[in-house]
Amino acid sequence: MCGIVGMVNGRSVAQDLIHGLRNLEYRGYDSAGIAIAGRSALSRLRASGPLDSLAAAHKVDPIDGPSGIGHTRWATHGAPTEQNAHPHFADGVAVVHNGIIENHAALRARLREDGVAFNSDTDSEVVPHLIASYRKAGLSRFDAIREATQMLEGQFALGILFEDEPRTLYAARRESPLAIGAAPKAVMLASDMLAYAGRAEQTLALESDEIARIRRDGVQILNGRGETVDRAWTAATSTAVTVHKAGHRHFMHKEIFEQPEAIAKTFAATAAEEVAAPVESVLADCNRLSIVACGTSYYAGMAARPWLERYAGMAVDLDVASEFRYRDRPCFAGTGSLYISQSGETADSLACMRDAKEKGEKTAAIVNVPTSAMANEADVTIPTLAGPEIGVASTKAFTAQLAALMGLARSIGKARAAFDPEMETRFETAYRMIPALIEDVLDREGSCETVARAIKNSKSAIFLGRGANHALAMEGALKLKEISYIHAEGFAAGELKHGPIALIDEAMPVIVVAPRDGSFAKTASNVEEVAARHGKIILLSDEEGCDHLAKHCWHQVVLPETDDLTAPFVYAVALQFIAYHTALALGTDVDRPRNLAKSVTVE
Ligand code: AGP
Repeated sequence: MCGIVGMVNGRSVAQDLIHGLRNLEYRGYDSAGIAIAGRSALSRLRASGPLDSLAAAHKVDPIDGPSGIGHTRWATHGAPTEQNAHPHFADGVAVVHNGIIENHAALRARLREDGVAFNSDTDSEVVPHLIASYRKAGLSRFDAIREATQMLEGQFALGILFEDEPRTLYAARRESPLAIGAAPKAVMLASDMLAYAGRAEQTLALESDEIARIRRDGVQILNGRGETVDRAWTAATSTAVTVHKAGHRHFMHKEIFEQPEAIAKTFAATAAEEVAAPVESVLADCNRLSIVACGTSYYAGMAARPWLERYAGMAVDLDVASEFRYRDRPCFAGTGSLYISQSGETADSLACMRDAKEKGEKTAAIVNVPTSAMANEADVTIPTLAGPEIGVASTKAFTAQLAALMGLARSIGKARAAFDPEMETRFETAYRMIPALIEDVLDREGSCETVARAIKNSKSAIFLGRGANHALAMEGALKLKEISYIHAEGFAAGELKHGPIALIDEAMPVIVVAPRDGSFAKTASNVEEVAARHGKIILLSDEEGCDHLAKHCWHQVVLPETDDLTAPFVYAVALQFIAYHTALALGTDVDRPRNLAKSVTVE
């Protein structure tokens, strides 16, 4: 999943391309490049590594012109080198690509037979060669692009320049996200219009298998049959402020501090009639619900499952999308599926949702990006109002997902008459308390930092929890892995003695997520099992819990008292801080951890 941009402004676009790529760097930062359609020829600049390398190269060797395309890469095919960086060229055609061309090997072999020489190991390079071959055969630019894209299997979003038409951009897509934006003196293209937040005043969605010709004086869209499509512009949503660190050292740290507001907004949104009513009409009759997601979003579903079972009276299955996708799962009446995704573009989750819809199953999606494919295609969408999340390690989206899931349990519980007045009071109280409890945890950053300094030189770490705390333990381990590169594993605390306890010795930090809930006593026994093997116990609990287990602990993070509704929010923030400060102490790139990208739009 890469980020692509393009712009036509009739004068100089280079700095605008680099600006757009900087806002899309969360999509991949293995290499970057721009191409410019000048007065007579195409020019190109590429660099391996994060965008700063390209920006530095551009200072030394500035290229510019009236229109251009740009790319920031997450390598799928071919190593993250300058040679494999986009844009790729072929006989006066320049292309940037996001997605995967699944039949690239066959196309490459065919083109080779026609005498084409390849300069990279990427799947993407077949695209400019195909377009150029159709141009040579005399087809118009539109027709050449259409013929070429009809040869492609897989997903793609493309930005295309032609040497012999310098003041024009072309775009094409199938599944991978791509939007067109307009500002007074420029028209732009981007995988996500966040690239031009605060600049694009209007946006235009490009549907799958459509091709657009973009000029300053207008945009023409053709569908797969070559027919012109009329489509209305809509007002752009994101503003410039969305992509600033607001004085924080990292987007992740800023986003951790944005959680009280994100949660409060999401509670309000899910309680509003325009969300609650469609949720009830789509899901209330479902006795069985499959929750499907990836990574952190999956752990949000895992933490919230007890709520849907207890307060909505639903049977809930939980699956990672990449596995769920290939199961021959029978769909019966009365079953529904819920997809959770920050980006709304995660390929595996999206494919599962499309598959379920095809099988006639009711689908709901909890999504943070309102313009995303999942938000557009689900039968009902529950928005998380966390705002754009730039840090690759998800934080505010996770707790906002918990807030949406809590709202869901309440709406469905009410519709299924499974929700009694005592529950209503508890939920109302929790809605009011959670943002304040998070503020309280934000003030305890220091004690999490102490833990981080203590574990930073560890080779690995174990996280333990029971019930919803098991999900938090898994999420805590994922956060630490993602940004500190320390090998970390989360386990159901009850599973420890069935194997993982063999890992425990005096060098192993064991982070125990233990609010004083119904499972605290059992978790306390697990703490004693670890202590008996000299494991280095780091306890996350409230005052009384910490006092109770103090003699076994290496370190403690004392957190406010909680209950089953508030605990996941409170403990999530402490786990985020531990991961953040460990990464900070180790000097890793917190916002752009190696090998990762924010939205995984390829399988
Ligand atoms: C979380 O920090 C990671 N960025 C990753 O696990 C992420 O949660 C996963 O890729 C799912 O993304 P989504 O929520 O956008 O679908």
